[in-house]
Amino acid sequence: MTLIDGKKTADDIKREIAAEVEEMVAQGKRRPHLVAILVGHDGGSETYVANKVKACEACGFRSTLIRYEDDVTEAKLLETIAKLNNDPEVDGFIVQLPLPKHISEQKIIEAIDYRKDVDGFHPVNVGRMSIGLPCFVSATPSGIMELLKRYGINTKGAKCVVLGRSNIVGKPVASLMMHKANPGNATVTVLHSSSNNINEACAEADIIIAALGSPGFVTADMVKPGATVIDVGTTRVPDATRKSGFRLRGDVDFENVAEKCAFITPVPGGVGPMTICSLMRNTLLAAKKEIY
Ligand code: GUN
Repeated sequence: MTLIDGKKTADDIKREIAAEVEEMVAQGKRRPHLVAILVGHDGGSETYVANKVKACEACGFRSTLIRYEDDVTEAKLLETIAKLNNDPEVDGFIVQLPLPKHISEQKIIEAIDYRKDVDGFHPVNVGRMSIGLPCFVSATPSGIMELLKRYGINTKGAKCVVLGRSNIVGKPVASLMMHKANPGNATVTVLHSSSNNINEACAEADIIIAALGSPGFVTADMVKPGATVIDVGTTRVPDATRKSGFRLRGDVDFENVAEKCAFITPVPGGVGPMTICSLMRNTLLAAKKEIY
């Protein structure tokens, strides 16, 4: 069994990006600039955004964090987005989700200029991705594809089961896996909470991508010997032995599944670190105007 080391791969990619940035700076160009908008004090969002700011530093980017309290109005956020859309010093920006209930996430996402939408959530980027046009691909799916590529995992003709149909992971990763590209060219089945015969479909899969948010859902009996298992789950479960009081648990019963498969991603340290890297890559592409 090969453990897919997302942390090391992410560090390698950040070094590659940093080298490219220093080359840009040596040529007199300015550093890529990412802005993150964070609303409220959700623990998970605070950590994600802090990690994004840290990754910007590692890549040699400029970063700006804009914070609002939970009671910020939708109008105020839309005003900020309009300013960022028109600011030539900003290459890309993200609005950390989830947002408070009184704000429409869809309205916010659609207000972002798709040319600065480095999260790849705007319908223009989602649509272009689904028909294989250049675009910002959202971070988690692109991180998964990068891991498959760097670990030389054959996807061509492979049977791939995607567990979960979310807009930010399940649907886009299923689409990328069936694209006429490598990695890609897989035969993809998407299973979700209303699917029947999940165990049988998984047991035939060469590649399982689990993105359900259901801790330990994928058990050893569901996995074919020699399969590749990508775990996207990151549920916080209580853990009294930790200072934080919780630990992250994936969608895969790691200890038992690891014994059976050829490749597996751990949680934490698998897909997670790669997602931030993909955001950095998109910001670099935005700064270089390589897509739009
Ligand atoms: N919340 C959880 N994941 C993400 C992400 O990738 N981007 C944004 N903006 N919010 C998130």
